Amino acid sequence: MFENLPDRVSVYEVSPRDGLQNERATVPLVSKLRLIDALVAAGLGRIEITSFVSPKWIPQLADADEVAQYSRAPAGVVFSALCPNARGLARARAAGMREIAVFVSASETHNRKNVNKTIADTIAAFEETIGPARAEGMRVRGYVSTVWGCPYEGEVDPKRAVGIAKKLLEMGCYQISLGDTIGVGTPRQTARILERMRGEVGPDRVAMHMHDTRGTALANVLVGLEMGIRDFDASVGGMGGCPYAPGAAGNLATEDLVYMLHGMGVETGIDLERLVEAGKVAESIVGRLLPGKVHLAGVRSLKA
Ligand code: HMG
Ligand code: MG
Repeated sequence: MFENLPDRVSVYEVSPRDGLQNERATVPLVSKLRLIDALVAAGLGRIEITSFVSPKWIPQLADADEVAQYSRAPAGVVFSALCPNARGLARARAAGMREIAVFVSASETHNRKNVNKTIADTIAAFEETIGPARAEGMRVRGYVSTVWGCPYEGEVDPKRAVGIAKKLLEMGCYQISLGDTIGVGTPRQTARILERMRGEVGPDRVAMHMHDTRGTALANVLVGLEMGIRDFDASVGGMGGCPYAPGAAGNLATEDLVYMLHGMGVETGIDLERLVEAGKVAESIVGRLLPGKVHLAGVRSLKA
């Protein structure tokens, strides 16, 4: 057991984007900036701060331009944002972003509900974003959603995700984040998916983006760690979900991920106590109790 654990992994924080896109309350700009500052103060080095998508589709992030313009990444911290099309790239560029993320699903129905296109047309349209962004020196991350299951189609053959991941890497993405969009994955399934991926795409190019809807996210992360994955997405407090994936609940909570990793001797560069403070900021700005386990229980157990 645990023979392949690394000394260190990279955590990619998605709460200002995946978290806030799914909140009922529209969070004011100043509160979003407070959350981003708190995440930076906790030592997160990679943060997805917003989405340059259509405000008609995701009104919660309609202020993406201002969020990107007014949030400041200190040296060594990378901010990223979702970007679905040329319009999104133009907005990201104008706001000074150095990294964007493109996204597509492994299942047709979710993809159409999410971006109103077929998978093939979505990938073809990435010519408008990935290439031009790279030509300007921006880094591009790629997401493949519904890899563990689709809310409309059920099980999804892992070979679909593998084919899309290979294509996005060829097109110029530096990394592919595989999404369990609705949090249905279980550990053996994760091993099957990563095994299939490993034959075609090196684990160093793959990240895992687990939603914790059914409490299996950390178990899946552990399988990923053993199988060579060194990049994990998470959202402080366990906020999040995709509005176009019914039943999708929070992402894996960053505090839960970091607590487990540090407890196993895997470094992240994150200060867990300050991360817990960031989780409290997140909770106060959305005005509802967040579900993360460490967020609710605290870091330390009570001493007798
Ligand atoms: P559409 O309606 O097919 O296309 O949307 P459109 O070109 O007709 O655009 C509709 C309107 O939006 C137009 O305005 C456009 O100008 C405008 P109108 O003419 O009606 O006034 N528009 C834009 N405005 C600002 N910025 C833009 C932009 N693009 C168009 N970039 C589109 C197609 C892709 C735009 C739309 O479907 C969309 O924005 N979808 C985004 C959905 C989304 O953000 N979902 C959640 C993120 S994915 C996720 O959560 C999963 C993930 O976390 C991983 C996982 O969990 O698996 C990443
Ligand atoms: Mg997500």
